[in-house]
Amino acid sequence: MTSIVVSSQKGGVGKTTVSINLAFAFARAGWNVLLVDTDPQGSVGLSLTRQSRKLLGFFDYLGDQKQTFDGLVVPTRMKTLSMIPAGQGEGYELGGGYSESVVERVKDFLGEAESRGYDICILDSAAGLFGITRDVLVAADAVLVPQQAEPLGIRSVPKMLKGLTELRAKNTKLSILGVLLTMVQRDVQESAEAADGLRELLPAQLVMKEEVPRDGLFLKASGKGVPVGVLQGSAKLLSAFDELRLEIESKLGLSL
Ligand SMILES: Nc1ncnc2c1ncn2[C@@H]1O[C@H](COP(=O)(O)OP(=O)(O)OP(=O)(O)O)[C@@H](O)[C@H]1O
Ligand SMILES: [Mg+2]
Repeated sequence: MTSIVVSSQKGGVGKTTVSINLAFAFARAGWNVLLVDTDPQGSVGLSLTRQSRKLLGFFDYLGDQKQTFDGLVVPTRMKTLSMIPAGQGEGYELGGGYSESVVERVKDFLGEAESRGYDICILDSAAGLFGITRDVLVAADAVLVPQQAEPLGIRSVPKMLKGLTELRAKNTKLSILGVLLTMVQRDVQESAEAADGLRELLPAQLVMKEEVPRDGLFLKASGKGVPVGVLQGSAKLLSAFDELRLEIESKLGLSL
């Protein structure tokens, strides 16, 4: 199993949107996918199940050694896509901080997912490189960094990449897939310049070739609690995420 964390220093850059739609793209291609919400605010669950506040989830597994993995899995309409919401886990949120024991528990969690036959585990995360997001990154195989294509946002990217590189001291197997430009508006000068500026700033292998365009359908999809690909008129977006999936498969050497 390959675990991929979707992580960024900044909030609101499209992490949850990318997590859901990338998980959907892998699942459509035939991979057995588990989507996990590791953001205490629980947005994947809110979006996909609309009842995540009541469901048990990832944080319950972290907080209670007796909590079984199987009691957390929520099936979806697609046979190859399941999810685990964030759950309750308020103690962790308040307690904050990370420790080796939390990292070990995250590793156990990923080990359980692997033993259940999942091929790909996509983990949505809370903004920042601290607390539980850091623990998850220390336990995972790869990280994808969404970044909104706007002039101010782009500036924080080198710092984020530096933070991830430092984290590799704790997790040498962590593959930095690169930055994924999101909400790109090629017809708006500032957005296009920010996107191109980032490509000039960073080595080519640190920026995904595929970009996620800004499109109102994403908002509609999250309102309905579905991946954007199930909505009418989403063919272009569906193919963007499919290209992204192929790019990730190639970078990580994955094949079905
Ligand atoms: N490509 C896009 N085009 C248009 N709107 C988008 C796009 N991606 C995300 N959005 C919208 O932007 C908002 C923020 O996106 P999202 O929740 O995915 O970001 P996030 O990084 O997970 O935020 P947070 O840090 O709060 O978890 C949402 O309303 C979402 O529907
Ligand atoms: Mg989010």
